[in-house]
Amino acid sequence: ALSTLLAEHGVLLFRGLPLESAEDFDAFIQAFHWPNFRYADSLSNAVRSNRTERVFTANEAPSAVEIFLHHEMAQTPIYPGKLFFFCEIAPDHGGETPLCRSDRLLALMREKQPEFVERCAAEGLCYTNVMPREADAASGQGRSWSSTLGTSDRDEAAGKLASLGYSWSWLDSGDLKVTTPVLPALRMLPGGDEVFFNQLIAAYRGWNDNRNKGANSVSFGCGEEIAAADMALTCELAEAITENLAWQRGDVVLLDNYMMMHGRRPFSGSRAILASLLGAD
Ligand code: FE2
Repeated sequence: ALSTLLAEHGVLLFRGLPLESAEDFDAFIQAFHWPNFRYADSLSNAVRSNRTERVFTANEAPSAVEIFLHHEMAQTPIYPGKLFFFCEIAPDHGGETPLCRSDRLLALMREKQPEFVERCAAEGLCYTNVMPREADAASGQGRSWSSTLGTSDRDEAAGKLASLGYSWSWLDSGDLKVTTPVLPALRMLPGGDEVFFNQLIAAYRGWNDNRNKGANSVSFGCGEEIAAADMALTCELAEAITENLAWQRGDVVLLDNYMMMHGRRPFSGSRAILASLLGAD
C-alpha cells in the first residue's frame, strides 16, 4: 500500500511515531526489506558520516548554504531509487526541505521553454567538478576524491573513473577535476510519465566553492554552456511548484528519487536530519 501511495505522490511523511534515535530510524527502514544503497559505494559529492550501517548524516554543508533542488546523485551514473530522511533535531528557524515534483516541472517547461527541453532531451548533460585532496567541510561539494573513489591511489582512482566513462585531470594542488560522461537529462517513470531527472538546478545554482563555479559546472552533452536565461526560467518554474516541508522531531520522509526533487533551505541554530538511501528497483 505504501509503495502504491509513493508511486502516486512521490513523497510520504510519517509523523507521530515513537522514533528518537538513529537506531530507531534504522529499525524503521529495515522493516521495509528494501535493498540498501551504501554511501561508500556512491559518487556523492557531499561530506557525510555514518551513524549506523544504513543511516548517515544528510549533507553537512554549513547552515547558511542553500542546497538547491536535485534528484539524489543524478549527476553520477549511480543513484538511489528511494530515500528516507529522519528528523533527529528540528531546526529553530528555516531548514525546511523543499520538494518539487519533477514530472510537473517538465510539463511546465515543455509549455514555457520547449526548445530548451528538446536540447536537454536530445543532448543530455555533463557535469564538471573539482574534488578536493582533503575533505572540505565548508562546501556542499566537499567530499575528497579519495573518499569519493574509495582509494587514495591515483592510478586506482583513474581506473575507476575510466571504467565509469569520466574524463579527468590532476591539478597542482592535488585536487582532481572530473567531467562525467554524457548523462540523460530526462527519465521515464514506470507508469510512462517523463521526469526532469538530473542535477541541473543544484549544480548551476549551488556548486560554488573555492574550487568550483556553479554556472560552469554543467553543460549540454556537446560541451556547450547553458544560457542563463533558460536556467532562470527553469528555476522560476520549479520554485512556483515547490512545497516546503517544515520538520518536526521524529518525522520520517520517504521520497521516490525519480519523481521528486529535494533540497535544503538555509537555517540557524541546530538541525540534524539523517538519511538512508535505497537501491534502484
Ligand atoms: Fe540530496
